[in-house]
Amino acid sequence: MSAASVSRRPLIAANWKMNKTRQEAQTFCDVLLTDLGQPPVSVVLFAGFTLLETVRRALDELDPATATVPSLGAQDVHPEAAGAFTGDIAAPQLLDVGCSWVLCGHSERRRDHGERDELVGAKARTARRAGLRPMVCLGEDLEAREADRTFEVLDRQLNGVLDALGAGGGDDPPALALAYEPVWAIGTGKTATPALAQASHAFLRERLEARLGAAAASIPILYGGSVKAGNAAELITQPDVDGFLVGGASLDAASFSAIIANSS
Ligand code: PGA
Repeated sequence: MSAASVSRRPLIAANWKMNKTRQEAQTFCDVLLTDLGQPPVSVVLFAGFTLLETVRRALDELDPATATVPSLGAQDVHPEAAGAFTGDIAAPQLLDVGCSWVLCGHSERRRDHGERDELVGAKARTARRAGLRPMVCLGEDLEAREADRTFEVLDRQLNGVLDALGAGGGDDPPALALAYEPVWAIGTGKTATPALAQASHAFLRERLEARLGAAAASIPILYGGSVKAGNAAELITQPDVDGFLVGGASLDAASFSAIIANSS
């Protein structure tokens, strides 16, 4: 654990994946935003493309003087800024609808769409150049974990994105977040133990510091993989766990709200 890691404000992110209609997104926002108040955390909502406008309008109604205003994020972005790419979405389009964040390299994209480190890095670079903050997802699958290759996988994935961002050191870190999501813990109900999560986070923190020096301190490392209200409080006490990327338990406003409360 680095001394700087202690001071990072927790960042709690919802990843709705391919869920919700606009009406359901509106209902979620009505419930969450009424009760949110000003917890000492930052919040991001990663919504499907058709929901972004609905969520952004709901967020626009909040008064930052009296409420924590969540940021809006998308779940993917194309590495080109425009062009003939049917079915894809470009960074300027995401900015236009009010996004400030985008997920890059979620394991479901790596698994279902063959996204490799180079493409994930290119997406993160395009996002940064457009002014979006990439949240880059990293994590080992069960085979790598059982073969004791977790750190090797994390190192490769992290280097891929830092190389693409041109982040070799110095005091100008990319505006970036990492989400450590062991693939075997996503949507399975199997959460990494706090000690196991901490070990991977500490490894990533050390590697970030080796590459970026003191500037690494501004990059939060979130944990993802079956986070719920019941396990959030213990996970967040780990010194290098800076927040959560929550899938299934973020679909219900009350359950996501309880995770926020337990992470504060
Ligand atoms: P989960 O998903 O919380 O449902 O495990 C996490 C994620 O994939 O981001």
